[in-house]
Amino acid sequence: MPGITLGDRIPNLAGNSTLDHLKLYDYIGDHWAIIFSHPADFTPVCTTELGSIARYIPEFEKRNVKIIGVSNDSVEDHKAWIKDIEAYNGVKITYPILEDPNREITSQLNMLDPDEKDEKGRPLPSRALHIIGPEKTIKCSFLYPGTTGRNFEEVIRSLDSLLLASKKKIATPANWKPGQPVLISPSVTDEEAKKMFKTFDKVDLPSGKGYIRFTTDV
Ligand code: BEZ
Repeated sequence: MPGITLGDRIPNLAGNSTLDHLKLYDYIGDHWAIIFSHPADFTPVCTTELGSIARYIPEFEKRNVKIIGVSNDSVEDHKAWIKDIEAYNGVKITYPILEDPNREITSQLNMLDPDEKDEKGRPLPSRALHIIGPEKTIKCSFLYPGTTGRNFEEVIRSLDSLLLASKKKIATPANWKPGQPVLISPSVTDEEAKKMFKTFDKVDLPSGKGYIRFTTDV
């Protein structure tokens, strides 16, 4: 994924959206945010995705996360398409969808797919999704092709992991789910960990290195 990547600060981009003109930094404020792209309006997978995100809005709100969509299509097209999304998915689209006719936003956020082209041969966005921290840096990115709709349960799960790791020196194991034990960060010594966390459970390993240490204190 060349271009903007994990740890980079996103530029303060601006554009017209279905909810008025939007400046990214002003809209995000001091919240976490998700900005996601889709290849094109009036396409089937995208219609399911934008409806699915709308269904998760209460979960994003619980976590104080702002949502922003973007594609190269016009606001006029977005607004006409929203009627289809709402009818098909039985939801209301309350989050803004940016237009990006000149590909300024999608190229600067590294969201274009060189293999997907519009009728004029210009690249279309991939299914890219960046989770942005309050200081406007990229904390996590998803990058899917047009043919593969995203799993928004996984987006929420990743968000929960990021939010925990932003507060405590922990990391989450493979297939972790909220409520399960988490791993103590390798940067923390055993002595520090025992003071930092109410529970401390070290796993015996053949190497004897003791680097797998769980806590339930999150
Ligand atoms: C879709 O949304 O259905 C789609 C978009 C681009 C490529 C393939 C599928």
